[in-house]
This record gives sequence, structure tokens and C-alpha cells, in this order.
Amino acid sequence: VEPNAEWAAEVRRLAEERDAVLLAHNYQLPEIQDIAHHTGDSLALSRIAAESEASTIVFCGVHFMAETAKILSPEKTVLIPDARAGCSLADSIDADQLRAWKAEHPGAVVVSYVNTTAEVKAETDICCTSSNAVDVVRSIPEDREVLFLPDQFLGAHVRRVTGRDNLHIWAGECHVHAGINGPELAEKAAANPDADLFIHPECGCATSALYLAGEGTVPAERVHILSTGDMVKAARQTKSSTVLVATEIGMIHQLKLAAPEIDFRAVNDRASCRYMKMITPAALLRALREGKDEVHVDPEIAARGRASVQRMIEIGQ
Ligand code: 13P
Ligand code: SF4
Repeated sequence: VEPNAEWAAEVRRLAEERDAVLLAHNYQLPEIQDIAHHTGDSLALSRIAAESEASTIVFCGVHFMAETAKILSPEKTVLIPDARAGCSLADSIDADQLRAWKAEHPGAVVVSYVNTTAEVKAETDICCTSSNAVDVVRSIPEDREVLFLPDQFLGAHVRRVTGRDNLHIWAGECHVHAGINGPELAEKAAANPDADLFIHPECGCATSALYLAGEGTVPAERVHILSTGDMVKAARQTKSSTVLVATEIGMIHQLKLAAPEIDFRAVNDRASCRYMKMITPAALLRALREGKDEVHVDPEIAARGRASVQRMIEIGQ
């Protein structure tokens, strides 16, 4: 299947026929981002999914995102073009492991990143995304212990910004972001001394970026730790002509659309998420033709996870 004008027209026609809204994450293939009704980060897409009047949501992203949409809107049909699109970060903790961790810290507030399974969300007090993780943790009284999971780099970022030492962090990671490392960032920053740095907090190099700022290699005001949606907003405001981008490479497409005059360079151009890229033009067409793959969440699990996801979409508006 070629993502040409004929494909685009057929996708739009079938979406209308199914009363479907097409949502695409910022890491999707450019042609998928361009055909979607909305492209954005995890938080923005969750909010759109919750508010949409369409009876079907086609989630061009990974499985936990589609599951989150289903938890918020159980009456809607939620489709993902390929149900095998998982997430290595979501796989780094399961509900049994979380129950055991909670038993070690009775009374702690559980904050889970949205990159988790529905079963983990059912054991969670508040979900967050990289856009509002700091606001979510700040909403919890200072004297309460917090269990933050599953991403260790996002957790370290939240601990640094909030200064909370009663925040316990699970040792999970995303294989794509963990692989964007400090030495690579330092080398690119030295070669591009006037560039701004846009760094996703899931990156292994987030700490290194702050270190570079601390030692004066990069002026501190040029280091921005941002969710993917906030990168798009920052792109519209930045004065630099070059920006080094530390996240999954799909991101570059939206950044170029937002600020065509800026030269966006990936810190690691091999940082591609194979799960995100399972949503091909052919898979999207098949999803719309056949109504597959439909996402189901056990209604009891969904009911238990709903409050934590609702709190997520309310915080940091
Ligand atoms: P955001 O788009 O919310 O920043 O999330 C990044 C991510 O890794 C999603 O899988
Ligand atoms: Fe998961 Fe990482 Fe892929 Fe995002 S980039 S979906 S966190 S594996």
C-alpha cells in the first residue's frame, strides 16, 4: 500500500463511514501523522479521546494509549491498527509486582506513568504523562510517600524538580530513550555550540544535559526537558536556528511543521520505536475496512483504573 492521494482519500472516506476520529501520536510515521484528525502527545490525545463525539476512536499509537482511551470511554469502539504495538516501558512492571511494592510501602500514593497496562492502572491512585508528571506529584501532600513508576529517568526528573526525597522510583526504562546516552549528547552539543537542546525526560541523557548546563558547556537556558507536545510548543518560540532533539525520531516531523526555518537534528538518529512503526499505511487501511484490531479492557479493571486516568487528564490543564 502506497500512502498516496488515493490511499488518503480512502482512509478519510472509511473514517467518515465508521464515524471514526483518527488520533496519531507524535512518534508515528509522517504519513500517519498527516492523515490523522489530531496529532499530539499522550496527554493531549487522551483528552481528545475523552471529549470526542465520534463513536469510534482509531488510535495510531501503541496499545496502552488505545487502552487508556477505552478506559475513559467504555461505550466507544476503540481500534488500533496493529494490536502487537506494545511498549517496552509498559512491560517493565506488572500488577503483581506493583501489589508487592505497595505492600512494602503501606499508605504510599501510587503515581503511574500512562505507559502502563490497564491492570497496573487499576492498582494506581493517579496516572500522569511526561507533560504533567511534576504537577501530579505536586498535587500530593508533602508528607505522603509516593511510589512513582515505571520510568526511572522520568522519576529522577520529577524528584529533581520537586525536591521530594519521599518519592520511590521503579527501575523501568524505555529501550529507545534509554539508548539516547550522555556521551552522544555531549558530542553533538559540542559540535553545535549555538543549538537549543530539546530532551524528553525518558532519556538516559536527561541528567547529562543538566550536567552540561551545570559545568557551563551549554547555557542552562538552552536546555529544555519536555514532553513531545511541549517540544512542538517550544519549537514555535525558540530563537535558535538549530535544535538538537533527544527523543524518538518520529518527533522531527511535527517539529519541522511547527517551525520550518529551524534545523532540527536528532541526537541519535537510530532512536526509532519499532512498536510505533507497526502502524503502517496498510495497517490503518485494514483497521478501517475490517474494524480491527478492537481493544477490549475487562470492565471491572477499567472501572478500577478510570479514576486514576480521569485525575491525569484533569491535572495540568
Ligand atoms: P509523550 O508524547 O507524552 O511525551 O510520551 C512519549 C512516549 O514515549 C510515549 O510512548
Ligand atoms: Fe514505549 Fe519507548 Fe516506544 Fe514510547 S518510545 S512506545 S515508551 S517503547
